[in-house]
Amino acid sequence: MRTVDTLLVVGLGLIGGSFAAAVKSAGACRQVYGYDQNKTSVEEAAALGIIDYGCASLADGAAAADVIMLAVPMLAMKPVLEQLSLCLPEGVLAEKMFAEKVITDAGSSKKALLDAALDVFGEVPPWLVPGHPIAGSEKSGVGAAKATLFQAHDVILTPLAHTDSLALDKVKMLWEACGAVVTTMDPCHHDEVLAKTSHLPHFLAYSLVDTLAGNPDNQNIFRFAAGGFRDFTRIAGSDPIMWHDVALGNHQAVLAALDEFTEGLQVLREAIVQQNSQSLLGIFSRAQSARQHFSSLLQSRQQRAKTLPDSVIVCNDFSGSVLIEDTDKEVMDSMKESTQTFIARPGGSISGEFRVPGDKSISHRAIMLGALAEGETVVAGFLEGEDALATLKAFRDMGVQIDGPYLGKVTIQGVGMHGLRQPQGPLYLGNAGTAMRLMAGLMAAQSFDVTLTGDHSLSARPMNRVVDPLGKMGATIETSEGGRPPLKIKGGARLQGIEYHLPMASAQVQSCLLLAGMYAEGETVTVAPGIVRDHTNRMLDGFGYPVTCAVTCAESGSGEHGYRVAIEGGGKLTATRIDVPADVSSAAFFMVAASIAEGSEVRLCHVGMNPTRSGVVEILQLMGADITLENEAVVGGEPVADLIVRSAPLKGIDIPERLVPIAIDEFPVLFVAAACAQGRTLLTGAGELRVKESDRIQAMADGLTALGIDAQPLADGMMINGSGHAASEKKGQPVFNGGTIDSHGDHRIAMSFAVAALRAKDDIRILDCANVATSFPDFAGLANRAGMRIVVKVSTSE
Ligand code: S3P
Repeated sequence: MRTVDTLLVVGLGLIGGSFAAAVKSAGACRQVYGYDQNKTSVEEAAALGIIDYGCASLADGAAAADVIMLAVPMLAMKPVLEQLSLCLPEGVLAEKMFAEKVITDAGSSKKALLDAALDVFGEVPPWLVPGHPIAGSEKSGVGAAKATLFQAHDVILTPLAHTDSLALDKVKMLWEACGAVVTTMDPCHHDEVLAKTSHLPHFLAYSLVDTLAGNPDNQNIFRFAAGGFRDFTRIAGSDPIMWHDVALGNHQAVLAALDEFTEGLQVLREAIVQQNSQSLLGIFSRAQSARQHFSSLLQSRQQRAKTLPDSVIVCNDFSGSVLIEDTDKEVMDSMKESTQTFIARPGGSISGEFRVPGDKSISHRAIMLGALAEGETVVAGFLEGEDALATLKAFRDMGVQIDGPYLGKVTIQGVGMHGLRQPQGPLYLGNAGTAMRLMAGLMAAQSFDVTLTGDHSLSARPMNRVVDPLGKMGATIETSEGGRPPLKIKGGARLQGIEYHLPMASAQVQSCLLLAGMYAEGETVTVAPGIVRDHTNRMLDGFGYPVTCAVTCAESGSGEHGYRVAIEGGGKLTATRIDVPADVSSAAFFMVAASIAEGSEVRLCHVGMNPTRSGVVEILQLMGADITLENEAVVGGEPVADLIVRSAPLKGIDIPERLVPIAIDEFPVLFVAAACAQGRTLLTGAGELRVKESDRIQAMADGLTALGIDAQPLADGMMINGSGHAASEKKGQPVFNGGTIDSHGDHRIAMSFAVAALRAKDDIRILDCANVATSFPDFAGLANRAGMRIVVKVSTSE
């Protein structure tokens, strides 16, 4: 049953017209009426089928409607409310009648609307539900209206304590019918936030264009204005009346935002006057990483918008540079939400000398320990991927001064063990499980409360594995249902050292407890049931914090087989220099690519060869891969080497379970190698793969099967009957059919199937690849420079 019978939209511009069109096309009410001062807009809306009926007067429409949407400029709200007050039935303010007439709006300033209502009605009526859709376009007028304008966009409602809940529900229902995601907020907070993120950029764009237009040389200025100018000033094409009203209606918050911005601009100006490179690079690189972080925030919302139509395609020309194919000839705005599809062309080989991006695990830890150290820590080779940048941003949010990354260099001014400040809001960690689990340990020991949140995938991952032992240490952490994020961590806990035997071989859990252990009373002992990556202990050692490590095994009489690490609380960290090696997990894609593609030879430089990570090399060698190590060295406590990989016929093997934890992230691409091998490959003891960024056993089994491979998922592993041939038979034959694969937003699944294309008959189309940027920014560029052919298709939504 419909809860709204008749909707009246007052103001048939872009927003009002789009709202009417969206509600009508969703069938969320019986009929949609429209009214506008401008009769032509009413006629146009009716002709376009956006409304069912165009009203000749406001009174006509108001009498018939049970919900009235005010989509007029801010300063017109009060006169419209005045007119409505005259046509509302007597006593509508009285207790029982308000549910029958609901008024809502779509204006940019909520305080201005509430003030207007107060003036007109003498109180803010309970049936008034202020709202604001965070969507729009520089285009205006009912002709630009689109039923899809609000799809997957936020709508903020700002009800007061006495707002009627039925009225609120009706408005919420209408917006949700438009495909919007509804949140509620305090009205003043809304105005402050929007002043900064929406109003300020519009005023800057207007002001820049106006200033340049007034320059006597304006002909040349506009003639030679490049893409940056075009992108920056797109919104200066917006409706002047609307923005005039926003400037005056939200003047307090807008002035505060303008002042804050002016101060920032002054600092930038001074840096240029003083020729201060460090300060300039600091500003630019901080902004760059904040901007990347913001993009990843937007990407997490794209999960809700998977079905939106393509509007822009980015093609790679296979030389590593990116071509933009602008399909609908609209201005490409990189702030729009985007999804990525990889189209991996079949066949080919790879060659060349490469250094893949920095190690993700080490990059996270470098920020964490550098932030808590005394003195300045310089990190080289830092991974400029979204996961590590999320950690960097989180520590900035806690008051740590961090410059960079700039060409992989990050400089951290450590604040000491107790120098972090409470962040102003939740810490958003994107897709980064390592950031969340390790930081849970650190945050549990701080004096302030903090909330850790993440994207769609991270929000589905189990956190009880760290929350339970931290609870035993004395931490108070609230989770969502089933121990999922967000984690609400209570500050001021006094942690106690414990001895904890991990139920699973997880470096994240072990590291989390060691980090908490630095703050705990007494000793914290962790025992993992298998060798797990040991970057935390190595790095703690590098920062001068003692840890004791021992490998225990059943035969040695200790009664168990595992990896014991212990730490005493109350120590301190001393700043150091960190050299982050290339990530072996990223190098793995090229190891498999070179192995399976006939005629390939690559040198992968300076790859981390920590024995707790190098399982992938051993597994590939057991399968017959041709991998040799050169330039072996230990840099900053971590072993590194150049890997030379040549194509070789692979054979199926039973993967020894002892190698599972030390190759845990490489199984997706190892499954691709297994599919190209001759005979059966069996993996067991790898149940952890089911709780990674996706269920990697199921996702890989589904994808391989779709490409014609005999892949059987097991509860804790996989059995693959490889389609490869013996060395003596024809080499390099295709083993995969072409097809479409869902990567489930998992970076490693996406990259693995791109590698598979080297031995495919036809294109492999891989969906949902934007998260490749979490661990391997520009994977497609590097892969194409090596000889692969990956087209990146970006679909944007407005
Ligand atoms: C990581 C540990 C591993 C790994 C992850 C990074 C780390 O997770 O899969 O990508 O940096 O400590 P588990 O601890 O869950 O095995």
